[in-house]
Amino acid sequence: MKLIYEKSQEGRRASSLPARELAVPELPDELRRERPPRLPEISEPELVRHFTRLSTRTFGIDTGFYPLGSCTMKHNPRVNERVVNLPGFRDLHPLQEEDGAQGALELMWRLQEILAEVAGLPAVSLQPAAGSQGELTGLMLMRAYYADRGEGETRRKIVIPDTAHGTNPASVTMAGYEVTPVQTDPRGNIDVDDLRAKVDAETAGLMLTNPSTLGLFDENIEEIAAIFHGAGALMYYDGANLNAVCGISRPGDMGFDIVHFNLHKTFSQPHGGGGPGGGPIAVRDRLEPFLPVPAIVRDGDEFRFDYDRPKTIGKVRGFSGPFGVFVRSYAYIRAYGPGLREMSEVAVLNANYLLAQLKEAYDLPFDRLCMHEFVLSARTLKRRHGITALDVAKRLMDYDFHPPTVYFPLNVPEALMIEPTETEAKETLDEFVAAMLEIVRDASERPEVLKEAPHDRPVGRVDEVKAAKRAVVRYLFEDHPDLSHEPGSGRQLEAQKGA
Ligand SMILES: Cc1ncc(COP(=O)(O)O)c(C=O)c1O
Repeated sequence: MKLIYEKSQEGRRASSLPARELAVPELPDELRRERPPRLPEISEPELVRHFTRLSTRTFGIDTGFYPLGSCTMKHNPRVNERVVNLPGFRDLHPLQEEDGAQGALELMWRLQEILAEVAGLPAVSLQPAAGSQGELTGLMLMRAYYADRGEGETRRKIVIPDTAHGTNPASVTMAGYEVTPVQTDPRGNIDVDDLRAKVDAETAGLMLTNPSTLGLFDENIEEIAAIFHGAGALMYYDGANLNAVCGISRPGDMGFDIVHFNLHKTFSQPHGGGGPGGGPIAVRDRLEPFLPVPAIVRDGDEFRFDYDRPKTIGKVRGFSGPFGVFVRSYAYIRAYGPGLREMSEVAVLNANYLLAQLKEAYDLPFDRLCMHEFVLSARTLKRRHGITALDVAKRLMDYDFHPPTVYFPLNVPEALMIEPTETEAKETLDEFVAAMLEIVRDASERPEVLKEAPHDRPVGRVDEVKAAKRAVVRYLFEDHPDLSHEPGSGRQLEAQKGA
């Protein structure tokens, strides 16, 4: 399919605006463009066809099952879009005075209250725009907390398990801390003996997601909390996997001091293309003074921004955070009402339903009941038939399923991380199981079908290395490289989606 720039014809327009006799505003020379922007010139029918065709070539949660582990790709209820498009929300200016934005402030305040209850921690900041930014903000809170206690120079290390998502060590490094890795034990928990040897007076804290990226709830979490608190260190909860435990167990009760939420995952939000997201954080009392400003507070029947926080780490996001995400999350939570627990229970049930039917056909590194997701391995398929986790993932696309997350977590070879979420019907799960089992049969009977998959998608098997190293993401006009003659043609480059 041609790019829109390649369809462009000079002088062609999708619409024309009436000419107006308006005064041309004075602009300083240094701010003037030297030439007009090189926008595609195209008629409206061609424009509509171009984007409609593109939309049919992509895959989303609205077109099929999307079990991308750790990403929680659940259905996004349409009522959320309706609510977020109410003019009072949609047309609100970020600089609107507080008395003209009471409804929006109340919604944010209510969301804070709900998140505090779900986390089991009293104070919330809605500001961070993603889980990873929540991580960084949480670590900045730790730094401020220790600096305030005169321990800023001594506490330098954050402990992270080998199953951690890549954003965890990245955030730790960005926050100026050092990573102390800790191993996983044979049951898929943190190895407590290894941990004990690594926690000391220089430890600032732990960063952990529970359930872990193996989809397993850490059976020793209270002991782990005692080790960290005993050493005067803090516990950070990466809430990417909160979908498993809402209304059932609370990170605050497990001993965590700081929690981030991935609103876009747990409480629905279209987020397949990388955003927009929401990563609020909840903290214990002793960390509240350091939270970002503004806080949203209630005075009687009035709601307002509070900037009067002398120990705050400052602002971490423009204005008051990603407001549209707040509205959708609030709508999702209210639709479940007091039954938020049911959301997590069905997510866990769906995952265990899949696991029970797949664990004989694939390798299962940790044979336990899973939480909302689980990790299989294609190790035996690879050894016996040369079929890798990537081949399985690509072949699933021929069955109209989005591939699961592959090759993550890093401590499982040929990993396939599967997360069905609570919004999928039993029939869909059964079709997925049938496809996964057929793939195992094909691995021994006709492996070439798997090696060449996908067969029926607009983009075939791509060269993964070239996709990562030579991705062409920008049209450069006359300098645009023509890669069509190269194997794994330039237009077919795609990046591998991680967790
Ligand atoms: C376990 C885990 N932690 C953190 C993150 C980062 O969250 P975000 O993508 O919202 O930055 C992810 C994202 O997939 C994740 O799976």
